[in-house]
Amino acid sequence: MVKPRTQFICQNCGTAHSRWVGKCEGCGEWNTVVEEDPMGGIGSGPGKVPKKGRPVALTALSGEIEEAPRIHTGIAELDRATGGGFVRGSAVLIGGDPGIGKSTLLMQAAAALSRRGHRIIYVSGEEAVAQVRLRAQRLHAAETDVLLAAETNVEDILATVGEGKRPDLVIIDSIQTLWSDTADAAPGTVTQVRTGVQAMIRFAKQTGAAMVLVGHVTKEGQIAGPRVVEHMVDAVLYFEGDRGHHYRILRTVKNRFGPTDEIGVFEMSDKGLREVNNPSELFLGERNEKSPGAAVFAGMEGTRPVLVEVQALVAPTSLGTPRRAIVGWDSARLSMILAVLEAHCGVRLGQHDVYLNVAGGYRITEPAADLAVASALVSSLAGLALPADCVYFGEVSLSGAIRPVAHTAQRLKEAEKLGFSQAVLPAGSADLPKGTGGRWSEIDSLPDLVARIAG
Ligand code: TYD
Ligand code: MG
Repeated sequence: MVKPRTQFICQNCGTAHSRWVGKCEGCGEWNTVVEEDPMGGIGSGPGKVPKKGRPVALTALSGEIEEAPRIHTGIAELDRATGGGFVRGSAVLIGGDPGIGKSTLLMQAAAALSRRGHRIIYVSGEEAVAQVRLRAQRLHAAETDVLLAAETNVEDILATVGEGKRPDLVIIDSIQTLWSDTADAAPGTVTQVRTGVQAMIRFAKQTGAAMVLVGHVTKEGQIAGPRVVEHMVDAVLYFEGDRGHHYRILRTVKNRFGPTDEIGVFEMSDKGLREVNNPSELFLGERNEKSPGAAVFAGMEGTRPVLVEVQALVAPTSLGTPRRAIVGWDSARLSMILAVLEAHCGVRLGQHDVYLNVAGGYRITEPAADLAVASALVSSLAGLALPADCVYFGEVSLSGAIRPVAHTAQRLKEAEKLGFSQAVLPAGSADLPKGTGGRWSEIDSLPDLVARIAG
């Protein structure tokens, strides 16, 4: 009999190698390659007779298509991020740093669903039942009918959740603790996690239960071990936030049944996570309106406008190479804005340290923030505070031109709602609301902006 070939799989990215290597060829990480049995748990066995399927014509399906059946948690921010609730028969991966609040969120979701009459099983592989109960007590979830189990073995979990009445939702906390008898690899390896997740997905498909899988993220920002898991599940959500701040964001990065740019915003309190229905108020909470270097950015997160303050500090440097420190934004983008300011606006920053911070520990991903960042930088350098009731948005191109961005009307509506009566935005912006009483200044180049601020 031929000995089955083992593979050498990177625990960081899942790349398979035919021999052991010190450095992964896929992601370049060192010492992440481990020998594994590639067929661990997924082999069909020698005696299996292939089963013939029956293809169906697309047209024959018309009329049968329905909306995916969803389980609403009633926690609006969570339902928003999942695209309207957990889908029956599907698997969702919730990733995040250890200690960010994944178990807390899911215990609260489990309690909310249980109160709505759903049957929920919470499988904890990390904590003992007593510990999970303690957390539930703190969250006032202890008196609900959520079923707890402390298991890590895949076969045991399947036996546990498959017993009795079918569950509506199963939570596995976390996938890194899963191990299967059928996979010939050490617990925590790619093969083990993949085998475990595959078994859970199969269970969800067969029973129609919604499966929620928790995964920890490594410092590189990937779900530890298998990025493969992201491809296997139907939706991937990341729970993010800064440990120093109380707010948390649930961000959708993949969703087969809904939009991928939605966020849910929460605040961590001593009684668990509280929903934040108006994030702008949270991020603008501690504004110091009279100081130079602060500009309010009218941003968008999915379908929802978010106002957030961008703070810049530009100061003469005492170092040979000036410092560029940045929190909450892309450093390459900052370098670009600085270069455009120098090249097209005559703003010399070569002898200045530049610090940029997005208030509240929030992270901006939109290029539309360019204009707010440039405004904050120029304001700080000139020592002149920007008008307190003004918002900024627009993309800056390398030529110094300001390009229009999407969702102008929504950004301005949110700004007006929060008491901002002025806006500086790109010339040629579509759907500019008329006759609202707000003063919208359209500018078409970065030198225009500098002239406006520095006079
Ligand atoms: P946890 O949900 O255990 O994080 P994860 O599952 O992502 O590892 O939450 C961890 C942190 O949240 C912990 O530092 C304590 C804090 N916390 C609160 O502040 N309030 C609460 O009500 C709870 C339950 C936790
Ligand atoms: Mg946890």
